[in-house]
Amino acid sequence: MKRWLFALLLISTTLVLVSTGALSTPLRLRPVSRTSDYVRPELPSEMLPLHDIRLQSRQGKVEQVHLSVLRYDRVVIGFLRDINDLPNTELPMQATLRYGTNRSSLDHEMVLNARVYSGMQEYNGYLWNPPMGAPTLNRSQVAELMNTASWAEPWWYVYSNTTVADIPENHSVAAIYNNPSALYQSPLVFNAKLDNLQPRTTYYYDIDGEYTGNFTTLPEPGIADGPMTIGLWADVGQTNISAMNMEYMLKQVNPDFVMLHGDLSYADAYWPRWDTWLRLMEPLMSTKMHLWCKGNHEFNSGNENNVAYMFRFATPFKESESPTFEYHAFETGLVHVITLASFARFDNQSVQYRWLMRALERVDRTRTPWLVVQFHVPWYCSVLGTGSRLLMREAMEDLLYKYGVDLILVGHVHVYERTYPVYNNQTNACGAVQLVLGDAGNREGPSLPFIDPQPSWSAFREGSFGVGKLVVYNHTHAHFEWHRVACEYSNATNCVTPGDNSAQARVPSDSTWLVRNTTQCPNRLMPTQRV
Ligand SMILES: *[C@@H]1O[C@H](CO)[C@@H](O)[C@H](O)[C@H]1NC(C)=O
Ligand SMILES: *[C@@H]1O[C@H](CO)[C@@H](O)[C@H](O)[C@H]1NC(C)=O
Ligand SMILES: *[C@@H]1O[C@H](CO)[C@@H](O)[C@H](O)[C@H]1NC(C)=O
Ligand SMILES: *[C@@H]1O[C@H](CO)[C@@H](O)[C@H](O)[C@H]1NC(C)=O
Ligand SMILES: *[C@@H]1O[C@H](CO)[C@@H](O)[C@H](O)[C@H]1NC(C)=O
Ligand SMILES: *[C@@H]1O[C@H](CO)[C@@H](O)[C@H](O)[C@H]1NC(C)=O
Ligand SMILES: *[C@@H]1O[C@H](CO)[C@@H](O)[C@H](O)[C@H]1NC(C)=O
Ligand SMILES: *[C@@H]1O[C@H](CO)[C@@H](O)[C@H](O)[C@H]1NC(C)=O
Ligand SMILES: *[C@@H]1O[C@H](CO)[C@@H](O)[C@H](O)[C@H]1NC(C)=O
Ligand SMILES: *[C@@H]1O[C@H](CO)[C@@H](O)[C@H](O)[C@H]1NC(C)=O
Ligand SMILES: *[C@@H]1O[C@H](CO)[C@@H](O)[C@H](O)[C@H]1NC(C)=O
Ligand SMILES: [Fe+2]
Repeated sequence: MKRWLFALLLISTTLVLVSTGALSTPLRLRPVSRTSDYVRPELPSEMLPLHDIRLQSRQGKVEQVHLSVLRYDRVVIGFLRDINDLPNTELPMQATLRYGTNRSSLDHEMVLNARVYSGMQEYNGYLWNPPMGAPTLNRSQVAELMNTASWAEPWWYVYSNTTVADIPENHSVAAIYNNPSALYQSPLVFNAKLDNLQPRTTYYYDIDGEYTGNFTTLPEPGIADGPMTIGLWADVGQTNISAMNMEYMLKQVNPDFVMLHGDLSYADAYWPRWDTWLRLMEPLMSTKMHLWCKGNHEFNSGNENNVAYMFRFATPFKESESPTFEYHAFETGLVHVITLASFARFDNQSVQYRWLMRALERVDRTRTPWLVVQFHVPWYCSVLGTGSRLLMREAMEDLLYKYGVDLILVGHVHVYERTYPVYNNQTNACGAVQLVLGDAGNREGPSLPFIDPQPSWSAFREGSFGVGKLVVYNHTHAHFEWHRVACEYSNATNCVTPGDNSAQARVPSDSTWLVRNTTQCPNRLMPTQRV
């Protein structure tokens, strides 16, 4: 039997068992760990070229619209305006946003002021010598940007007659700070904070009569008036696969909100790629709210030090008494999400650790039983060479176990992997299930090979691309599905990847019920509820 067929049968069997109720305790450890033998066909997944139609500036008009969620009743509409093509007599510093629940009569109005930030261009090796696909710039173009000889006085210390030979292959080069051709100027950045919104209500918005959109708010914490769907993804990037995952997230997952566990644009200090990324993502992000988390590509894969991230993406840190945008907490319906930072100090003396203790203390499990934590770098992942990032796990896992965290969501390693409930490197029914979802389609391709044999805590792993869907039904039951989205072209309704004859291109490739059993695991109760 073909092994993929076996895998498919296993999935259907699981679903049948579940639907007949035979898996009433689905969290019990299943004996078989599984490595999918699906291997994504060797297709290019390069950055989309700058001339791609989806990445183009709207030349002064509102663009890059994206929604951030701060509370069930508080949403930030972010958008930008690229003024490069406007006459220099124009500086549209203000924008007017109107919004309301009646589309034909938007009764709220806000006037917003623009902000702008600058960044030093860093010419990453990926620009001109990517491992796959075509470069964004070639080395001659980079040399030209670096070269100050045409305008600097020869005696001036910035004088530099840079040639191609001076650009080291496969290494980042940063132009000197007083080379103006290396200064990125962001478009005008606007962030509109809409407050006191009604829960579970569709709002319509209009920006300067140029852009209209809508979104639907989330329920209040503690309210469960139907299943809640949460979209999960990480390590997105801007390739054709990223675009397909984006479209899949919008149309097939159709979530109430989305969590992105770090690594957004892969701009890596070639800053214009933040603009192209938000343009590519706009269909999803202008209508579905995100809860953001930062990864290394927001921080130091290229020396961005969070600047683009900080200016563009709003996080609920003030709402959760955090001193920094880097970690925060959020609750809606039956779910409480804590977002941590893999790249901020996490040792037990750190601000992050002290804040986390307080954040966990504030969780009300009677109101929001599902405690979900997201950050970027996995604590458990069985891809070869990913075991070295264990310091954060050593510092914080005891605390998360003590509070009975149900689910940990991470990215960074470009595969899909699901663990059984795990604690202290061993399966443990009262530990958290950890999902690695670093496979949303960035240019780096899947991270393989896996460690052999598969660790006992690893339930399922596959080295291809896709997104996650979590549906929370009630206080005890949630269902998780991972959908492979490996197709190269998104125009077909029944998508088939060339070379992929497995016929599974868009079936849920892995799924599981998550069941909270507080008799078995009293750590999932509030300390005061435990007897
Ligand atoms: C992206 O997909 C389109 C077809 O939809 C194809 O023409 C193009 O070459 C692909 N580009 C990259 C960079 O993969
Ligand atoms: C929406 O606004 C229009 C135009 O003002 C009005 O005629 C209509 O009654 C409103 N609808 C509701 C449900 O309030
Ligand atoms: C640079 O990277 C390319 C693509 O990965 C590789 O083929 C080439 O050998 C590398 N060059 C050097 C000098 O490392
Ligand atoms: C680099 O790109 C520019 C602009 O596309 C082109 O004119 C030039 O010939 C290219 N140089 C090399 C060495 O490929
Ligand atoms: C810069 O280098 C090029 C190539 O080596 C040379 O032809 C040119 O004269 C140099 N320019 C200056 C201003 O030194
Ligand atoms: C809300 O916006 C989406 C995306 O722009 C659009 O497809 C949809 O028709 C809008 N819904 C309503 C009710 O206007
Ligand atoms: C704090 O962390 C240090 C270093 O890992 C460890 O030696 C110490 O026991 C920890 N203290 C507490 C109170 O957990
Ligand atoms: C965790 O367990 C695996 C076996 O499942 C073992 O190979 C690994 O060394 C252990 N790691 C630590 C940090 O104990
Ligand atoms: C919770 O949801 C699951 C899945 O839909 C269902 O089987 C179960 O009966 C529900 N439990 C309660 C208490 O409603
Ligand atoms: C989908 O796009 C591909 C690549 O652009 C093209 O070859 C194919 O004919 C298209 N299929 C349909 C159904 O339009
Ligand atoms: C919960 O766990 C307890 C103790 O392990 C077990 O007896 C009970 O059957 C479980 N309940 C459910 C609904 O799985
Ligand atoms: Fe990463």
